[in-house]
Amino acid sequence: MEIKSIILAAGKGTRMKSEKSKVLHEILGKPLLGYVLDNVKNLANENIVIVGHKAEQVSDFIEKNYDCSKTILQTPQLGTGHAVSMACPDLENFNGNVLILCGDTPLIKEETLKNFVEYHNSVNSDITVMSAIFDDPTNYGRIIREDNNSLNCIVEEKDATLEQKLVKEVNAGIYCLNWSKVKRAFSELKSNNAQNEYYLTDIISWGKENGLNVNAYIMDDNTEIYGINSRVNLAEASKMINERKLETLMNNGVTIVDPDSTWISEDTQIGSDTVILPYTYIEGKNKIGKNCQIGPCAHLRGGVEIEDNIKIGNFVEVKKSHIKSNTNVGHLAYIGDSELGERVNIGAGTITANYNAITKEKSKTILKNDVKIGSNTVIVAPVEVGEGANIGAGSVITKDIKPWALALTRSPLKILENWVKQAQKK
Ligand code: UD1
Ligand code: MG
Repeated sequence: MEIKSIILAAGKGTRMKSEKSKVLHEILGKPLLGYVLDNVKNLANENIVIVGHKAEQVSDFIEKNYDCSKTILQTPQLGTGHAVSMACPDLENFNGNVLILCGDTPLIKEETLKNFVEYHNSVNSDITVMSAIFDDPTNYGRIIREDNNSLNCIVEEKDATLEQKLVKEVNAGIYCLNWSKVKRAFSELKSNNAQNEYYLTDIISWGKENGLNVNAYIMDDNTEIYGINSRVNLAEASKMINERKLETLMNNGVTIVDPDSTWISEDTQIGSDTVILPYTYIEGKNKIGKNCQIGPCAHLRGGVEIEDNIKIGNFVEVKKSHIKSNTNVGHLAYIGDSELGERVNIGAGTITANYNAITKEKSKTILKNDVKIGSNTVIVAPVEVGEGANIGAGSVITKDIKPWALALTRSPLKILENWVKQAQKK
């Protein structure tokens, strides 16, 4: 059955104390909402993101980065049930499943969502809620079951009796709805509760009253629904996402010398036998080949494609660049908006000056195969250095250089013999 997703992201995120929408706060170069959209994109053919607080920022992010996704404004924000109802006109004639998620839970895995939807379909469910078991269920909605273990309703913490508060099975905030049967609920939800909100959770009891098949799916790993409400949560989630990634990489044959000081984004691919040395920070989308050595203290900022047998050494920063195999960028360099060929050697202290601070334009540096750049060179882009050309140390290169040429900008070396001794005598 066709799936569309609704992602709830209109809430205020007060505890972030930020001018930025909560769901746009980043983990390793990707906003929280990006994690959710990436994990749902292979399941759903359209994503509807409900926005409210700082809506323009969120819409702008989605427009620039995600196809098949749109935003719908919710003002004022009258609760999670009200948020979903905003999508009803759009989904008027939709007959598939609607998967509902929150924009501030970046750890949810695609595989978990897939299993969840499979379960929903396999039991012919109309409404399925994902649940999790927590030793400390505080603040979550509680899953209330009948004596025969079937689902009865969800009770929010603020509406729960003392007895209900003892229940450790909680609402994970992820739902799968057989839309044509459930859509009617959204015009029937009431707000007579402790928070005077239209609760999405009330669709469970609504479903039961209306004779629908209502189920809960207990998830295995409840860290996946870790939600971000504060900067402390953000740091904690970053750590978890990083640990997951490093483990996957190590299991695929990448050496991570010191996982405690290494950061690698979810969207970075790394080939086997590559070694990542300590204090390396890799954010955004990157592709690194086999048998490379990265770090210590390297910074890859995204859009970086590195082929095989490459060395990116200490205090090297690389951004939006393609580097072909057997090339070395050993120490203290900045490579931005560049294309480096095979067997290129970049001397220590080399900078590609890609940014014109007056025009605010970025330009490209192209270094063909076998180019050798002497230490402390500034390449003022746009520049192309032809195959096999050499650049003398300390040069400032402002023009294209022909293949196999030597280029250098250098004032002649002056040697004044015995100058020091004579100066001392005076
Ligand atoms: C909700 C659930 C609770 C569950 C918990 C899991 C309800 C009533 N409660 O509680 O059972 O255990 O999630 O995390 O649904 N949002 C909107 N518009 C609104 C209100 C909220 O878009 O009008 C968005 C928020 O931005 C957030 C999500 O919905 O992404 C959840 O809202 P939140 O206020 O965090 O609900 P909880 O109290 O955590
Ligand atoms: Mg919440």
